[in-house]
Amino acid sequence: MDKDRCPHVLFFPVPSQGHVNPMIKLAELLALTGFRITFLNSHHNHERLLKFTNMTAHFARYPGFELRAITDGLPLDHPRSGAWFLKMYEEATEMKIKQSLRDMLVNMSTPVDYMIVDGFLGFALDVARELGIPIVYFRTSSPCSFWAYYFIPDMIQAGELPIKGSEDMDRFITTVPGMETYLRCRDLPSLCRATDKEDAYMKLIVKHTRKSPQADALILNTAEELDGAILSQIRTKCPNVYAIGPINAQLNNRLNAKHGESHDHFSNTLWEEDRSCISWLDKQRNRSVVYVSFGSIMSMKREELIEIWYGLVNSKSKFLFVVRPNSVIGKDGEGEDVVKELFDKTKDQGYIVDWAPQEAVLNHAAVGGFLTHSGWNSTLESIIAGVPMICWPYFSDQQLNSRVVSEVWEIGLDMKDVCNRKMVEEMVNDVMVDRKEKFAKSAAEMAKLINESVNVGGSSYSNLDRLIEDIRGMSS
Ligand code: UDX
Repeated sequence: MDKDRCPHVLFFPVPSQGHVNPMIKLAELLALTGFRITFLNSHHNHERLLKFTNMTAHFARYPGFELRAITDGLPLDHPRSGAWFLKMYEEATEMKIKQSLRDMLVNMSTPVDYMIVDGFLGFALDVARELGIPIVYFRTSSPCSFWAYYFIPDMIQAGELPIKGSEDMDRFITTVPGMETYLRCRDLPSLCRATDKEDAYMKLIVKHTRKSPQADALILNTAEELDGAILSQIRTKCPNVYAIGPINAQLNNRLNAKHGESHDHFSNTLWEEDRSCISWLDKQRNRSVVYVSFGSIMSMKREELIEIWYGLVNSKSKFLFVVRPNSVIGKDGEGEDVVKELFDKTKDQGYIVDWAPQEAVLNHAAVGGFLTHSGWNSTLESIIAGVPMICWPYFSDQQLNSRVVSEVWEIGLDMKDVCNRKMVEEMVNDVMVDRKEKFAKSAAEMAKLINESVNVGGSSYSNLDRLIEDIRGMSS
């Protein structure tokens, strides 16, 4: 490479909100250092980002930042609701995306020097190796889940999986190094609940996870101070790990340092944000509101929504509830009706939106607790904001994240596998009233520690600098 040319890095996330968020923030961090970036979104997400955000104008400030769309293998009119992106892993679809990626790379006017690709897109590794491009995997979900996924074959071999029914859920797992003291069957990523050890989804995740050491390095959205014990374990399999998170906080810090506090943020949201909830929060007392949101993928049953709603109402705490359109499962549109009906009854206590500016909400002084599905981005955003959590994990890594929040970091409570109004009421009262000061203190201490990691000289800050230097080194 010409030594005066800046490195050209290609990013390719799995096309769901929780994966695109940290990837595009890392892309912006590298663009800040002058790197040329090509960011691939699926056509569907590209269109949504154009519709709901100022994406084009925002990234135009970085010379050489190109936003491109690539097929996700599905027809454009596919509804893409729920965990639709799993369709990408069907063999024919995967081949189609792999071919598009290869064609794009071969035909780029400025060759790509380095690829940062979602750790679940294993086919990209084959393309990178064929074209001789260094490649790093970015696993956007939690490090603890990566480590548990890695040991699924060992758990099966030791007879610890499959789980033998509901009465087996509290059994401790011994084959995941570093987690022996807290990992129960109940806390394993949800796919481990499959009764068949040949389960197709489980095999797929294991395949991608076990492929990780073949990449040149692994990027994780965490800090050494948060996940140090698990990171040392992961380094026994993937020696070069860059722990550079929380990426949202790292980006904010570096933008503040460059442009001052008034810089504009890019909110890479796939839904339209309803900012009226901020005006509503402005009218509430400090730390009096429970923020309730279950992320970008999961759909909940009508009965579950009703239990959570009444638990909140009975707790007497004020609440801000996000109910994504089409995310409540009920017969013949009943799911959506129940939302309107309940809201009408509880207008004085609660506020409801389709989609919130989550980071702004969590950082609002009125918010004192977060009832969350424990998605990894939501967990990190809550930690940085110093907001204690009440975890109601639904699927994927969430079962394990919630265990770590409650048992290892002690900054929240874990409600997994129970959903009744009494339990919701009790846990909300515990966090918002009975042990409010205790939880607020531990969450504030954790927030301080993790915010320091993304400050100059902090571990995540230094790890990002090392990544930047390594990319320069590999690209020259
Ligand atoms: C999914 C999995 O569920 C999660 O466990 C895994 O770690 C990543 O993929 P998702 O459901 O998208 O995640 O949850 P999460 O990782 O928490 O990401 C949701 C993102 O959407 C967050 O960055 C959050 O700030 C944002 N969000 C959510 C909003 O901006 N507004 C909302 O109203 C709700």
